[in-house]
Formats: sequence, structure tokens, C-alpha cells
Amino acid sequence: MAARAGRKLVVDVHSHLYPTAYIDLLKKRTDIPYVRPFPPTNQLCLCNRPPQNTSKTSADAATTSKVPPGRILHPHYYDVSEKLAFMDHHQIDISVLSLGNPWLDFLPAETAASIAVEINDATNDICLPHADRLFFFGALPLSGGESIILAEIARLSTLEQARGIVMGTGGLGDGLDDPQLIPIYRALADAHLPIFLHPNYGLPGPVWGSRGGDYGQILPLSLGFTMETTIALTRLFLSGAFDAVPELQIIVAHSGGCLPFLAGRVEACIEHDKTWEAQGKLTSDRTTLWHALRNNIYLDGVIFDKVGLRTAIEASGVDRVMFGTDHPFFAPLDGGKTFPAMTLNRDAVRDVFPEGEDATKDADGNSNDGYDLVMGENAVRVLKLR
Ligand code: URA
Ligand code: ZN
Repeated sequence: MAARAGRKLVVDVHSHLYPTAYIDLLKKRTDIPYVRPFPPTNQLCLCNRPPQNTSKTSADAATTSKVPPGRILHPHYYDVSEKLAFMDHHQIDISVLSLGNPWLDFLPAETAASIAVEINDATNDICLPHADRLFFFGALPLSGGESIILAEIARLSTLEQARGIVMGTGGLGDGLDDPQLIPIYRALADAHLPIFLHPNYGLPGPVWGSRGGDYGQILPLSLGFTMETTIALTRLFLSGAFDAVPELQIIVAHSGGCLPFLAGRVEACIEHDKTWEAQGKLTSDRTTLWHALRNNIYLDGVIFDKVGLRTAIEASGVDRVMFGTDHPFFAPLDGGKTFPAMTLNRDAVRDVFPEGEDATKDADGNSNDGYDLVMGENAVRVLKLR
């Protein structure tokens, strides 16, 4: 689609939608994840991840607390017209939708294949009437076994609006460094489907201490989510997955968690590790984390400030960072229409690339504005949105 007159395309690569078929599935459940009415208003509440500040892990948590055990399920979680209204209000031209966490992780093996087909087809159908504005990252039936996962990857590559897959940090149940994931990574790379890597599980409850509950969701969402991603991706890197599948591409949520900031320390720890040395892995031509950051890893821009964004750009390069909002999470508490997750993340890009200053030159010597690259051009190029 053409950007509105006078400005370049704005693309949101971190934008969630829960199709109604998925919500209906969660309504039938009593264990997390579930959807159920929350008293006294009986508004529907989406509880999509374990409580991090209490030992309760089931729907019982909802009955003993005044605070809903998750998010009130406003229509912007599932209604595409709300998504489009959000995009129009914030001048977002294109969104790449992803099923929100915890995706299909919880499904029993027997139903994983059919539900993945249902949810991915439903999402493709949601996008199709707005084919120049809505694309999506599909969800994989990770509990279904290798052949079922590979079949869904093959199918996704035929769906008009699919541009990758969304995945959590659990993988097949043993993390992203699991060798059993290599055939999956290879199939995704061969199909040119990047992984959108997103956290859900956070860190173990005791990390937050006995007063963790006093701080609401602040610690798990700001630090738990980001450390979860950082650890998962570092494990993937250390396992050699990028050597096994050099074409593997991963778009990492929340600007890569802490990875851009900590990559130097990870590298130093590798260089000083006796076990690594004894395994003969300290070769001069080994793949470094810096190499992976610049060749296999893309970072979204959902970091809310110029300091983090600048670090992300420094680590992966200005052509590998892509704007996002995390809509509909981070809705304004006052119920207003303007989401700070839009304005803060956009302003961070502008702070890093002040108006009128060229950020880089491409291979042909043409100057590109870093603001335009991060706000949309990178996503259009990488995800083939035109
Ligand atoms: N952002 C998400 O994407 N998921 C959550 O559960 C919370 C914030
Ligand atoms: Zn998100």
C-alpha cells in the first residue's frame, strides 16, 4: 500500500490478535491459559500465563483476589475492526499480527494439528480482506510432534498473508537449544519464514521475593519477560543452532530483551570457559554472538526509550530493527485512544534519528533515513510486505 501523502510506511511487527476460535478454546479451560468471567462485573478475563507472585497456578487464584488474574478481555484483543481503528488512529499502515501468548503451547498432542490449522486459517482469513494492511506470524502445533509441525510449516508457506511464525521460549518443552528443533529451524529457514520469538513464562516466582506481589506485574513484565527471552536466545546460540542452520532468522520481541546489552559479557564468558575450551569450541572461526546478532537476529523496537533502542541498533544494525507496539497489551489505563506504547516507541526512534539526519548509506551509496528504516522499511523488505 502507498503511505499517506508525505510520509513513509509505518509497520508494526509486534501486534497481537486472539482469533475468536482461540478465545472459545480458552473458555472451555479451567487451568491456565483460560478465559472466564471475573466477579463482581463478570467481565471476561484472559489469564494467559501463570501468576508470578503467588504460588497459585490454577483458576482458584481468580476467586481469592480482587485483581483479575489476567487481562480484561476488551474487544481489541480479538476484534479486527478494533485493530484497524488502532492502526488508523496511530497512523500505522501495516501490522503483522501474531497470536498472543501462550500460543498453542498447552495443547495436547492429539488436537495440536487441527487447532493450528483452524487458528492459522482464521488469522489468514482475518487478514485477507485487508491484504495490503494485515499480515501475520502463524502459530505452530509444537506439542504435535515433528511431522505435524513440519506439515504446518509447509502449509503456512502457502497462506497468502503468512510471513513467519510466532514462538515462545519453551520450544518442544526443553528450550530453544533442543537438538530436536534443528529440523524445524531448517524447515523454517528453507521456507523463508522467520521466527518471531516472544516470552510468556517469565522467571521462577522466588526471584521476585516475598514482596513481589506488591509491585503488581512490573517485575515480571519488565524484567521477567526480557530475561526469559535473553536466556532462551543465548541457549539457542550456544547450542550451535545458527551453525547448523545459518539461514535461520529470528525476530526477537522487546528489542532482544537484554541481549544487545549483555552480548559482550556473554562473549567474554565464552572466551574464558574451560568446558567450552575442553570441547574444542574455542576456535578462531567460531560464530560469535555479535555475528549472530548481525546475521540471524532481528530486533523489534518495543523498548520504550532511546537508550535501549540505540543499544539494539548498535548491536544488530539499523537495517535489523523493526518498530512495534505490543498492541493490545499496554493499553492506556485511563481508557484513552492514544497508546503510549505507540508514542513512546515512535519517539524513541525519532530521538535516535533526529529529523533531517541521515543514519546510513546502503550498498549503492543511497542514503537511508534510519527513522524510516526502523519505522517500516526494514519490515517491508524483510517480511516482503509488498
Ligand atoms: N505483553 C504480551 O505480549 N503478553 C502479555 O501477556 C503481557 C504483555
Ligand atoms: Zn507481545
